[in-house]
Amino acid sequence: VRAAVWLDGRLVPLRRARVSVFDRGFLQGDGVYETIRAYRGRPFRLVEHLARLRASARAVGIALPGGVAPLGRAVAAVLRRLGGAADARVRITVTRGNAGPDPAPRRDPRPTRVVTAAPYTPPSPAEYARGVPAVVTRIRRNDRRAQDPAIKATSLLNTLLALREARRAGAREAILLAPDGRLAEAASANLFFVRGGTLHTPALESGILAGVTRALVLDLARRLGIPVREGRYRPTALLGADEAFVTASTIEILPLSSVGRRRFPPIRPVTRALREAYRVTVADELGV
Ligand SMILES: Cc1ncc(COP(=O)(O)O)c(C=O)c1O
Repeated sequence: VRAAVWLDGRLVPLRRARVSVFDRGFLQGDGVYETIRAYRGRPFRLVEHLARLRASARAVGIALPGGVAPLGRAVAAVLRRLGGAADARVRITVTRGNAGPDPAPRRDPRPTRVVTAAPYTPPSPAEYARGVPAVVTRIRRNDRRAQDPAIKATSLLNTLLALREARRAGAREAILLAPDGRLAEAASANLFFVRGGTLHTPALESGILAGVTRALVLDLARRLGIPVREGRYRPTALLGADEAFVTASTIEILPLSSVGRRRFPPIRPVTRALREAYRVTVADELGV
């Protein structure tokens, strides 16, 4: 495996990058994280990702030593170590740390901070052209009152169970409903659909992650003069759409070819216009 690793303040070789068996991230999924895409060694929308990491850490009461600034520098360091040319996936993980064997220690330990960069292969041009199949899973998104999906937490069982269900059904993406049966988001991406020329996406109040890509796509749509609506949607709204896609930092804007038995037409003018605008934004901001 080729990967560059920063662990608690320094770059370390992958084979020596180790955390304790008592780390609460490992034992309890007690941590928060971010995934960032880098293009030719430059992270896209790093400021936005660091802001969300700060919010996630605050929401679960994990104190970040020195704030997010050292993590921003660590991102630059791992990308430099990996070498500039390739597309890369950067992950920042902060767990509550190693508290020893006591599952309920009185005081919080020092957080464990890990930043990794590894080469990333995006979906193929054929997948972007054809779209990928999705299903609405029986597994629902966590209730906001149980574990708020706005917190980007390392405890991902909810997501993984939905993905397993989707893969068993022969789909690549899982669409999760909120506990109230309204559309929420994909397993690791936000959901959009186009109906009658209007772009729709579940509102943040649906109980979803506030995607960095989602925010940019909404912004691009407004700039392109595409009508936008955020709402609480029934699954039938998605099934009756003309176009549908999912968004995340790694995959950007990925069209859905189908949701369950519903197949979407292969011509997707709105998705295509947004994808084009997204590429231009990446090029402009990063100079790549
Ligand atoms: C549950 C979930 N929703 C949405 C997203 C998309 O977020 P972003 O666009 O910030 O990458 C992710 C990111 O992986 C995610 O895990």
